[in-house]
Amino acid sequence: MQILDGKTLAQDIENAIYQEVQFLNKEGITPGLAVILVGNNPASQSYVNMKAKACKRTGIYSITHEMPENIQQESLLQTITMLNQNPNIDGILVQLPLPKHIDTTAVLEAIAPHKDVDGFHPFNMGRIFSNLDGFIPATPMGVITLLKHYNIPLQGKNVVIVGASNIVGKPLGALFLNENATITLCHIYTKDLIRHTKEADILCVAVGKPNLITQDMVKEGAIVVDIGISKLDDGKIVGDVDFSNVFSKCSFITPVPGGVGPMTIASLLQNTIKAAKLRIKGK
Ligand code: GUN
Repeated sequence: MQILDGKTLAQDIENAIYQEVQFLNKEGITPGLAVILVGNNPASQSYVNMKAKACKRTGIYSITHEMPENIQQESLLQTITMLNQNPNIDGILVQLPLPKHIDTTAVLEAIAPHKDVDGFHPFNMGRIFSNLDGFIPATPMGVITLLKHYNIPLQGKNVVIVGASNIVGKPLGALFLNENATITLCHIYTKDLIRHTKEADILCVAVGKPNLITQDMVKEGAIVVDIGISKLDDGKIVGDVDFSNVFSKCSFITPVPGGVGPMTIASLLQNTIKAAKLRIKGK
């Protein structure tokens, strides 16, 4: 069993990004990321903090717009319009989830597709599903980057993804499909989950339910990618996989923390650099 060490790879990516930022600075450009955080969700606050710190480490300019839970949708849309027009901002990210009274789709669609570093706009989503270049959502992008770094072949593999969200499961399925893997997307209405997971050469789990995946659900020698993240009552951070019992059965497995999480942040930084380079091209 080998650990897929996302923490170390993310550090290497950050070092490369730092160099790229130095280069862009010489061209007169400082890559800029605007993050919008609505409300006081502690998990969201923590993610936004981590993103801002990563920007700082790599020399990317970042600004966080904190908005109250009861913000009117119109104000949120106005802020996005302002950021779309701001020439110093290359990437715009609205931290999800948004409060119930806000139409998330309308907000995501308001972001200019060339600044959509989260890749959640239907324009970029459509491009991924058409196997065209565009912004790829950070978590699925981080998963594929991590597997490729370890030279894990994807073509022809049976990939089972548990969790079919717009943010992770669906785009991750598209990325694996683009790599010529055979994909199965499981979700809460899937019957007999174990029947699917046991067939997986590569099992990706993005549900947010500790110990959802037990040893009996995993094929001998499988590659397990744990995308879930939960905080237990004692403060411990865990994934969706019963790591201590599953790891001996796998050929590769991601730890939580230190697996997919850091790769998500690194991928967001990569997307921000990509957006900054679009700014140069647009000049
Ligand atoms: N909420 C959970 N994951 C994400 C993410 O990758 N981006 C944003 N914007 N919100 C999230």
